Amino acid sequence: MKSIIVYASTHHGNTKKVVDAIVSECGVESVDAISVQEKDLSEYDLIGFASGIYAAKFHPQIIKFAQDNLPDNKKIFFIMTSAMDKDFSKSITSSLKDKKFDVVGAFSCKGYNTFGPFKLVGGTGKGHPDEKDLKNAVEFYKGLTL
Ligand SMILES: Cc1cc2nc3c(=O)[nH]c(=O)nc-3n(C[C@H](O)[C@H](O)[C@H](O)COP(=O)(O)O)c2cc1C
Repeated sequence: MKSIIVYASTHHGNTKKVVDAIVSECGVESVDAISVQEKDLSEYDLIGFASGIYAAKFHPQIIKFAQDNLPDNKKIFFIMTSAMDKDFSKSITSSLKDKKFDVVGAFSCKGYNTFGPFKLVGGTGKGHPDEKDLKNAVEFYKGLTL
């Protein structure tokens, strides 16, 4: 099975840490949607979209990348890091209404956050993603490819 993870990680590189853990453990390909806007994804069986959460949404460039490049009838999954550690994936699926895809999983963990007033108190989620988060993410990915 050929897989790729498309990511955007602009605040503290939290999401990139999660993606990199999966890349180094599982040998999956990854691409940064901040620097790459176009890619032919037709040869991939499983496509992940990974993002920090900004104002309750995936990064706009991840959404744009998916709108522009995701072929129909692919298996897709989501990885997100956020202050609230919640499943924010509806914010991307609702932007892909014209496409056909099968969501096979979503992973969320806390990410260090110093946005706005949180900076004044040293931020939230300090140290996250931590080793346990990274291990959980790798297990999550392995579970998708069994
Ligand atoms: C501009 C901005 C807005 C954010 N909005 C939210 C939010 O709505 N909900 C949340 O749980 N976390 C929010 N966060 C925290 C980030 O989602 C969290 O720090 C995430 O791990 C950042 O990922 P990154 O380092 O990969 O960019 C926000 C952070 C920033 C900088």
